Amino acid sequence: MTIPDRDLRRLREWQRESVHRLHTDPITPEQVWPLLRAIEEKDSTTGAHTWRVVLYTRLLAETIGADRDIVDRIGIAAALHDLGKIDIPDRILKKPGRLTSEEFRVIQTHTTAGHQRLVDMGVTDEVVLDLVRHHHERLDGSGYPDGLSGDSCRLGARLFSIIDTFDAMTSVRAYRAEVGPEAAEKALDELEAHIEEWYCPEGVRVFAALYREGKLDWIMQHFNDSAETPSFSPESTGSTPDR
Ligand SMILES: [Fe+2]
Repeated sequence: MTIPDRDLRRLREWQRESVHRLHTDPITPEQVWPLLRAIEEKDSTTGAHTWRVVLYTRLLAETIGADRDIVDRIGIAAALHDLGKIDIPDRILKKPGRLTSEEFRVIQTHTTAGHQRLVDMGVTDEVVLDLVRHHHERLDGSGYPDGLSGDSCRLGARLFSIIDTFDAMTSVRAYRAEVGPEAAEKALDELEAHIEEWYCPEGVRVFAALYREGKLDWIMQHFNDSAETPSFSPESTGSTPDR
């Protein structure tokens, strides 16, 4: 399967439009490292997830021909996407099983909490601020925190939600045994089932093509947890990263 040209062209045009955001100062390594450490301290299991989503995000951005500076900024944004989870109480964040609607509402605040943390630190990098705040938005406006729809949701966040979903469905979880090609096909089916409704169609098609060309394999395999799979809870199936 080759990467569809028309989709690639459209994504390239969109990314060119976002170049103006480079006029904001990039977040600095001195600002990034303590945040990454804080994320890791909050939940030591997120390390491999972080590495994978950073690599997928950079690869996708490179594939659509993003400027080097955008690739770097978007990679950092991917690493910080769930920064706001630092502010979510462990009893909710690490609760096994279903969340109540009130708990889910609290979880959703990780988007605005992460964004606020960055603003409070004086970060003005719009690529990073955008992705941290908007990575749970959906194309039809049913996402959170701002219910952005269509083009009002910028490219980085739109592409990242595809990657976050894919990784959630293809990594080792307490409730999932399969992580190989079967899980990847299931994840792509899930993305395709909600194409246009939730996910950017061009992004999904390009990402699916990268997978089918084998270009994601080294990330999926090399950085996935190889520890013995824990016991499975039969009632929990787990699909989209709705947390
Ligand atoms: Fe998130």
